[in-house]
Amino acid sequence: MSELTEELNKRLTFAIISHPDAGKTTITEKLLLFGGAIHMAGAVKSKRNSTKTTSDFMKMEQERGISISTSVMGFDYKGREVRLLDTPGHADFSEDTYRTLTAVDSALMVIDSVKGVEERTKTLCEITAMRATPVITYINKMDREGREPIELLDEIEEELKIKACPLSWPIGQGQQFKGVYSIYENRIILFNPRETLDTSSEVVEITDINDSALDDAIGETLAKRLREELELVCGVYPEFDKDEYLKAKITPVFFGSAINNFGVRELIDSMVDIAPEPLPRATESRIVSPDEDKFTGLIFKIHANLNPRHRDRIAFMRINSGIFERNKAYTHVRSGKTYKAANPTAFMAQDREIIDKAFPGDIIGLHDTGTFKIGDVITEGEKLQFTGIPNFAPSIFRIAQNKDPLKSKQFDQGLQHLTEEGVAQVFYKVSTKERIIGVVGPLQLEVIQYRLDNEYKAKCNFIPVEYIGACWVSSSNKEQLNKFEKFFYSHLAKDKTDKLVYMYSNKWVFERTKEEYPELTFATTSD
Ligand code: G4P
Repeated sequence: MSELTEELNKRLTFAIISHPDAGKTTITEKLLLFGGAIHMAGAVKSKRNSTKTTSDFMKMEQERGISISTSVMGFDYKGREVRLLDTPGHADFSEDTYRTLTAVDSALMVIDSVKGVEERTKTLCEITAMRATPVITYINKMDREGREPIELLDEIEEELKIKACPLSWPIGQGQQFKGVYSIYENRIILFNPRETLDTSSEVVEITDINDSALDDAIGETLAKRLREELELVCGVYPEFDKDEYLKAKITPVFFGSAINNFGVRELIDSMVDIAPEPLPRATESRIVSPDEDKFTGLIFKIHANLNPRHRDRIAFMRINSGIFERNKAYTHVRSGKTYKAANPTAFMAQDREIIDKAFPGDIIGLHDTGTFKIGDVITEGEKLQFTGIPNFAPSIFRIAQNKDPLKSKQFDQGLQHLTEEGVAQVFYKVSTKERIIGVVGPLQLEVIQYRLDNEYKAKCNFIPVEYIGACWVSSSNKEQLNKFEKFFYSHLAKDKTDKLVYMYSNKWVFERTKEEYPELTFATTSD
């Protein structure tokens, strides 16, 4: 086997999707502990920031090095090189999360057993469904008096439009939580609330569910209930089919309590068993397979250094095919220029280290002084453009106005950098050439103001505009498109890639417009 095939077969690149508070931070920490990447709990700082103000938020980001160190966490587990990509907890930064999801091959969905499927989980699941990304589900907080497991599975199927396939089953829950029966491995793992990494949980091997050892282990009442429930579960849910999981048709489900280290080992054990290695990626011209000899990579995220003395940035590149080598001359496709990385870094646990080689599925950090934009591609010369880095139609619009005329250069440069980083989208009005900033959540506007001031010494004023929505318009019917463009001239804008955008100020009018121009496509996302 070639070095490339051998390495890429080991890679497991995934992200956790969940609603804030479901336990993403806790489970990340436990995964890192099991992976031997960190040695004590509390090393991964809480990322919850939903109730914080912007300055708290920015300060917090600064304190933890704007999460560069936790943006990607790498570790080895049972022969697989795991790469866990972090996603921002706050809904206002969803675009960053969407882009991160384009760089993974599978996802882990964490659900709170008390709250069930929550709003953000739903949105994120729509994205994974769109890309047919395989998802494993972990139902957390089984030590609390939560909802019935069957009810939770029903909710997953109904709300997330994906078939559930339980691979473990809880024995009791809340105060009565005794452990899980692993359907995947046919054994019982008993819950020990004081479980640490040193004292492994008690495992009772049971090959036949009617074995009296089960009654001895968990008592007759719970054993009877478990048998009944398992009979029902096996009747209702199909047997696990790995292909169906890889096609994102079913989601295998595990139960546990992350804070108590419970069910996490079973989860990660199964994950390394079934989660996919790097998958092929689509480009505008062809499908790129990870085992191709020639290297290709995609910049999916750019992170600024919040230290105002260093205006450099880190561009995150996912290797999509071939072997990436340090100091080798590659092509930066957008500019056509040669690109060489002198100090590419890999992210291992919480450290960054300079690497000489990287393989498909790896995420590396490239020091950037303004070369990169999100969506940029590096190759060995081929002109490729990977598709699927989504732009989502924003819902908040403002005209960004420079408050200090002496700083207009800094202001323009800052705004350009921030939009390149994907902090906000920028639209240029066709009629007035005005620059309109579009964001998904209000916190993004505050971040722009804060960063312009802090990093570029420029002050920004936001002037409200009447728009409430935007979408990308296209059509093969030139006549209808012309008619539309004439009529809605004052509502038209171009995005940064010169695509036509229609901005509307009234939902009703928008609905009418769609009916009036049936040959036009009004898209809320754009590649
Ligand atoms: P997030 O990153 O998804 O936002 O969630 P996080 O891990 O920070 O967990 C949210 C809260 O849920 C935390 O409590 C955490 O301790 C708790 N939690 C996580 N897993 C479990 C579990 O299995 N069982 C129970 N009962 N609780 C769990 P907190 O009080 O908000 O914060 P902290 O003081 O514990 O840090």
